[in-house]
Order: sequence, then C-alpha cells, then structure tokens
Amino acid sequence: MRVQSLSFENYRNLLPGEFFPVEGVNVIWGSNAQGKTNLLEAVWLFTGGHSFRGSRDADLVHRELDGTSRESARLVLQFSGGGREQTAELKLQNGRRMASLNGVGKRTASALVGAFCAVVFSPEHLSLVKDGPSERRSFLDSAICQLRPSYAGLLNHYNRTLQQRNSLLKDIPRHGELLDTLEIWDERLAGFGAGIMEERQRYIKRLAPKASEIYGGISRQKEELGLQYQMTAALEEGTMEQCHQAMLQALHRCRREDLGAGFTTTGPHRDDLLLTINGAAARVFGSQGQQRSAVLALKLAEAAVLEEIIGEPPVVLLDDVMSELDTERQEYLLNHLQGRQIFITCCDPANVRLLEQGGVFQVQEGSILQQEKGVMHVPSFRAGYGNQNG
Ligand SMILES: Nc1ncnc2c1ncn2[C@@H]1O[C@H](COP(=O)(O)OP(=O)(O)O)[C@@H](O)[C@H]1O
Ligand SMILES: [Mg+2]
Repeated sequence: MRVQSLSFENYRNLLPGEFFPVEGVNVIWGSNAQGKTNLLEAVWLFTGGHSFRGSRDADLVHRELDGTSRESARLVLQFSGGGREQTAELKLQNGRRMASLNGVGKRTASALVGAFCAVVFSPEHLSLVKDGPSERRSFLDSAICQLRPSYAGLLNHYNRTLQQRNSLLKDIPRHGELLDTLEIWDERLAGFGAGIMEERQRYIKRLAPKASEIYGGISRQKEELGLQYQMTAALEEGTMEQCHQAMLQALHRCRREDLGAGFTTTGPHRDDLLLTINGAAARVFGSQGQQRSAVLALKLAEAAVLEEIIGEPPVVLLDDVMSELDTERQEYLLNHLQGRQIFITCCDPANVRLLEQGGVFQVQEGSILQQEKGVMHVPSFRAGYGNQNG
C-alpha cells in the first residue's frame, strides 16, 4: 500500500495544495503547531477510521482566525493498493463525511474500510502500556475486527449478554426466585466468551513473535519484549470447547462474589494482555523510552499481521515517536523498516541526519516544503491560498 499523492482543500490549517510522498520513509519535521499531525491525520481518515486524536469531523474543516469555518473540506488520496492505482475522495461538510472510491460514491466513509490500510502510532497510544487493561483489550479487539469483521458481532452479543446477566445479579437479592434463571445466562455468556477468548489467543499467537522481533530490533537485541494473554476465566489456553467449559466453571466459582458485587467478575471483559520487558511488567517497570518502544513494536507487529492477511504492507504513520528514543532506536526506525511506506513526524531536524534514504519535508504554518535528501522524482508540493475566495 502506498500513498502517491494527497491533496487538501480547507482541511485544518493545511494550505490548499498537493503532497507527493516518496516510497519508503518520509520524515516530516517542523516546530510545534505547524500542521504535522494534521497531515498524518488526513492520511489516516482514508482508512475509514475516526480521527486518532478523537476530534469531531466538524473540527477538521479549516477555521479562520475570526472563528468562522469554511463550508467544507476536501481530501483526495491517490494510492496504489490491491495491485492497482486507486483514488479515494473525502468531503467533510456539516460534520458529515462523504466518500468516493475510484469515482463511485459511497454512502458512508466507513465504506472505505479495507480499501486503504494503515496503522498509526500517536503519543496518546502510550496509554496502551501505561493505563489499565481496557486499553489493551480494545487494541486487541479492534485489530481482530479489521481481520475478521464477524468478530464485532461476537463482541456485541457478549456485551449484551453480560449486561443482562449483570442486571439479573442486581435483581436476585430482592427476588430470590430469579436465581434459577442465572444458569441460562451463564451458559450463554460462556458460549460467546469462549469465542472471544479463542480469537484473542489466536491473534496474540500471530502478534507476539512479530512484536518481540521488532522490539529486539529497536533495542538492538539488548531487551526482550514478552506478550501474554491473561485470562480471568481460564488458567491456560485451549480450544473453544475447553474455553467454554473453563468459563462456565469460573462463573459458577465466582457466583457468590458476583452476587455480592452486582456484576460479573470473570470473563474476557476482565482479561489483559501482559507486556513484559526482560520479564518485568512494562507498565510498572518500563522507562519512558521502553514503553514507547513497546507500543511501537505492538503497532508495527499489528501492521505485519495485517500484511500477511491482505498480502501487502499497510502504510505506517508514526506521530512524534522520536522524542524519548535514544539515537540507536531512532536510527532503527528511520533505516530498518524496509518494504513499506512510512510517515514519521518530529520536531528536531537533527533526527533527519540519521536518515539514509527517503524524503524530508518541513511543515511550516500549514505548508509542506520538500527538502533535498534521498530519492525524489516528483515536485512535492504545490500550495497557496492565492485567491482567498477560490
Ligand atoms: N480546523 C482547523 N482550522 C484551522 N486551524 C486548525 C484547525 N484545527 C487545528 N488547527 C491548527 O493546527 C495547528 C496544529 O496542527 P498540528 O498538526 O497538531 O501541529 P504539529 O505540527 O505540532 O503536529 C494548530 O495551530 C491548530 O490551531
Ligand atoms: Mg503533532
């Protein structure tokens, strides 16, 4: 998957124009608040995902200094993917997104999912290591959803059943006769839960070796990253049927506790993905740089798994990863992730010295300036508001 060009009009603070990245690594540098993250975000929107900074679509349209907004923003992405050249277009208007792919209008922007694939790392994703298990569960779940759309349905069934069981748990103390019906909900929850446990086990088996290999590269083989699925309802991994039985037994075992708490204390909604660096929990013992490297390794491993499935590497977007990484780690990122198109933003132009081959772009007050370095064959950027009414 490769971005050939991206053009924007009335998008955030970016001046209308067109950006032509190179095939390998694209370093995008500039001072704070110049538009680097905005540029990455514009590429990301074509995956059909929401803004990775959690912005509303209405915030994406260019706003003047006096606070008035342009009517709509337009982004056009030319990319190669699925063995051909493709064009996707996004129009943002009145807080809504309209999309088209190769000239065919789509009803929703999420219809673009699967056509253009990317993974993104932004500093907010550090919560994946720093925060509680729910961040890691949703990382796993959304990665699996990309590979298997049916998984979203399974999660939905599980969560609905969980809510019903939880409200029953709250009612039982006042209506003892309801206790008998609990068994039905246990059986149902264990069925869906086993499906989730099995899918996550399978995904982690694919992800873990890739993540530790990448982490080994980043740390120059000085450290080892470990990934382990920690289930609350089962002691060890197993088949769907084994997971089902284990979860049913766990629900029985925890029944008294659940009745006291008024919610379900065991099951995949409480599971975690344990991340270790040299055997110690990354969340507790990892340094800033180690935690950043671990999240990066997870994201790049996610890309590698996606590559196996779709048959080509997704585009990799790395926002502000350079800070807190030592020179060796930075050098690895810039020069050892061959075979895919990467966009890396940073503030410090010194980082660019480490780049052996690729494109270098400076972002300044919303315009993107191409600089000499590496292989470039096309003019990078044509920009300008020129006619403000145009
Ligand atoms: N809708 C918008 N219209 C105009 N400017 C915007 C809009 N949204 C964000 N900005 C501006 O974009 C700048 C931030 O860009 P960003 O890409 O986050 O910077 P950085 O280069 O630090 O990554 C800020 O100056 C912000 O005010
Ligand atoms: Mg930024």
